[in-house]
Amino acid sequence: ADLIVTMRDGDIRTLAGKPGFSVMEIIRDGGVDELLALCGGSLSCATCHIIVDPAQAALLPSVADDEEDLLDGLDDRTPTSRLSCQIPFADTLDGLRVTIAPET
Ligand code: FES
Repeated sequence: ADLIVTMRDGDIRTLAGKPGFSVMEIIRDGGVDELLALCGGSLSCATCHIIVDPAQAALLPSVADDEEDLLDGLDDRTPTSRLSCQIPFADTLDGLRVTIAPET
């Protein structure tokens, strides 16, 4: 299952999506260090911000209240912004396209 990631410089990388891991973990394990994910997935930093391809946003689990609170604090939030640590990867997400949000 592929996870397709657009980097800040526009480069596109295809990573091996691993079910059971979060999208954040897959991006980090794929060697992408521009996704800071400073809190390690404990939902307190919002530096794992990604933008999901709008055509695929409906495939994802909905935004929980605590994720919503952090997204709400982002100046550059978009309609399909998500915190990648809160998205469990699954085979049903094969081909998911996400973009690393701009640095804040
Ligand atoms: Fe900190 Fe996702 S890694 S909120």
